[in-house]
Amino acid sequence: MTTVLALETSCDESAAALVRDGAVLAAAVASQVEEHARWGGVVPEIASRRHVEALPQLIERVCSESDLPVAAVDAVAATVAPGLVGALLVASVTGRTLARLHAKPFLGIHHLEGHLASVQLGEPLPPGPYLVLLVSGGHTELVRVDGAGRYLRLGRSHDDAAGEAFDKAARLLGLGYPGGPAIQAAALGGDGNRYPLPKGRISLPEGGFHPYDFSFSGLKTALLRQVRALEQQRPTANAPLPVADLAASFERVVAEVLVERSCRCARDHGLTTLVLVGGVAANRRLREQMAIGCHRDGLELRIAPLAYCTDNAAMIGIAACHRLSAGLNSPLDLGVAARLPLDQSDCLYQTPAAF
Ligand code: KG4
Ligand code: ZN
Repeated sequence: MTTVLALETSCDESAAALVRDGAVLAAAVASQVEEHARWGGVVPEIASRRHVEALPQLIERVCSESDLPVAAVDAVAATVAPGLVGALLVASVTGRTLARLHAKPFLGIHHLEGHLASVQLGEPLPPGPYLVLLVSGGHTELVRVDGAGRYLRLGRSHDDAAGEAFDKAARLLGLGYPGGPAIQAAALGGDGNRYPLPKGRISLPEGGFHPYDFSFSGLKTALLRQVRALEQQRPTANAPLPVADLAASFERVVAEVLVERSCRCARDHGLTTLVLVGGVAANRRLREQMAIGCHRDGLELRIAPLAYCTDNAAMIGIAACHRLSAGLNSPLDLGVAARLPLDQSDCLYQTPAAF
């Protein structure tokens, strides 16, 4: 039995969790969304301060809920990359301090490896290899997974991440932050086929288009143009815009692009299981469309449970259990990194510390 205390503060959610052998004993998240909403996005300085305030209480809460003191865990884990440096430092310093004080191993975890592990908080995964579509506020990636630490990126966004596109589109439509849930709510009852928005593609130097890469910046510009045109056409300056139809059209196109390219990538690479994780995986339309696409193509689909799509510490704990069972831990002087490609996550377990 392995019990891990996991901490996550890479962006705007402070989170702590206790996990044991793939199961969550207790998990707590303190969201800062309301505070950042005033500014229309995450303010790094505010994020770090709120993590400092929230994290000790979250640790206390998960320990008392599961009736386990920190001294009783087998290891302490914290997200150390990628993310906002000042924010990452909060979980990293807290985690390394607890590990040192209680003489426990410390595991620095790659945030995206945590998202990949989140699907196991639902059903167990079939044996690899499989294809993961990771769609969050900072990343849109298609990754072939052959096991912990064995990743091959097959597709990516060349500009905005899918979640970022949702956030920008919501701002444009006056729907607030975070944009994903706001667009989803506004799109309910809207006509998703009313506006033919473009599916951005990436040209290849030799001609044609990259089959698995994404571009969302053109879609955002097209939505802006559509909004401007509608504003010009309306009878009075205060006449309402068809926000539900605009939101639904935007949501449809993003879902279609993600489904089409993911299914094609899986088919082309002979991968029979597709895994959907990350904050955008919470999107209802994407979950539905992906189920239809996978059924059509004979792919087995696994989606992270709704509660563990957006940032949380339980997924970091699951990733840490895998690393621990492979006999790994991180040096106690490991720092944090704003950027770190997923396929370099093994460096977190090297001595001397990679950064
Ligand atoms: O995974 P996450 O919590 O943080 C990152 O690692 O980035 O993802 C946050 C992103 C935000 O951009 C948010 O708008 C998006 O996930 N998101 C959604 C939904 N819920 C969250 N996007 C679409 N539909 C949703 N229901
Ligand atoms: Zn995330």
